[in-house]
Amino acid sequence: MKAKVNVKTIMKMKNQEKIAMVTAYDYVSAKLVDSAGVDIILVGDSVGMAAHGFTSTLPVDMTMMLIHLSSVARAQPRALVVGDMPFLSYETSIEEAVRNAGLMMKTGADAVKLEGGLEYEETVRALVRAGIPVMGHIGLNPQRALLIGGYRKRGISEREREKILEDAKALEKAGAFSIVIEYTSADVAKEVTEEVSIPTICIGSGPWCDGQVLVFHDLLGLTENPPPFSKQYANLKEVITNAVKSYVEEVKTGRFPEEKHYFIEKKD
Ligand code: KIV
Repeated sequence: MKAKVNVKTIMKMKNQEKIAMVTAYDYVSAKLVDSAGVDIILVGDSVGMAAHGFTSTLPVDMTMMLIHLSSVARAQPRALVVGDMPFLSYETSIEEAVRNAGLMMKTGADAVKLEGGLEYEETVRALVRAGIPVMGHIGLNPQRALLIGGYRKRGISEREREKILEDAKALEKAGAFSIVIEYTSADVAKEVTEEVSIPTICIGSGPWCDGQVLVFHDLLGLTENPPPFSKQYANLKEVITNAVKSYVEEVKTGRFPEEKHYFIEKKD
C-alpha cells in the first residue's frame, strides 16, 4: 500500500509528476476517488452548489463544511484532504481565520484552502505559523464573483495579469504549499507556474500547470449546467436515472422483490 500523501509529497511533485485533485463531499465519494488514485481530495465549498442546490457558494458556512469534512475524513483516504474555507470564515480577522482553519484540522483536514492572494498574505502567514498547511486560490475567486460581475474569465487585461502574478508570489512568500488557479488565461497560468517554486493546480486555466482539479459532479455528468472548462468522463445522470426507472417499473409490475430478496420463517 502506498504511503499517505502529505504536503511535502505534493510539493515534491512539481516538475516530476502531474497532480490530480478532485472534490468529494462525503464518505462514499471519498472512498471512490481515493481508490481511483487521486493525489488530493478537496472538500470544496462548491458543495453548496453541487450538493445543496444553492446558486452560489456564499451561503456555505463552517457548520456545513465540517459535516462534509468529517464524512470524507472517516473514509481515511490515502490522498491529501484539503478543507475549503467558506465565505466569511477567514475574512473578518486573522484570529477568526486561525480558529476556523484549526477546526477544520481537528475535524480531519490535512490542509486548508482559501480564496485570495496578496490581500490574505498575513492571514496565510498566521495559519502557517500555527502549523496549518495552506493552499491558495487565485484567478477567479467564486466567493467574490459579485464584485467582478459574475464568473468571469481572469487574466485578460495587463493589470489583471500582473495582479495574478503578484498574488501567486505573495502566497508563496507567506508559506502556502500550493496554489489553485481558476479560469485564467492559460499563458498567465503558465507564467505563474514557471515563476513560483510551489505547485499550481488549475481549473479552466490550461495545461501548463503542475496539476488539475475538477468538481466530482462535473466530472461524472451529474451537474445540470457544468462550467465550459470541465470535462465529463461519464454520464452518471443517465446511469442513475435508468437504474431507478428499472426499480420503479419492477415495483409497479411486482417483479421486485424476488424470492432471494425475502424470507418466510416456517413455524413448526
Ligand atoms: O470549491 C471548489 O470546488 C473549488 C474548486 C473549484 C477549486 O474551490
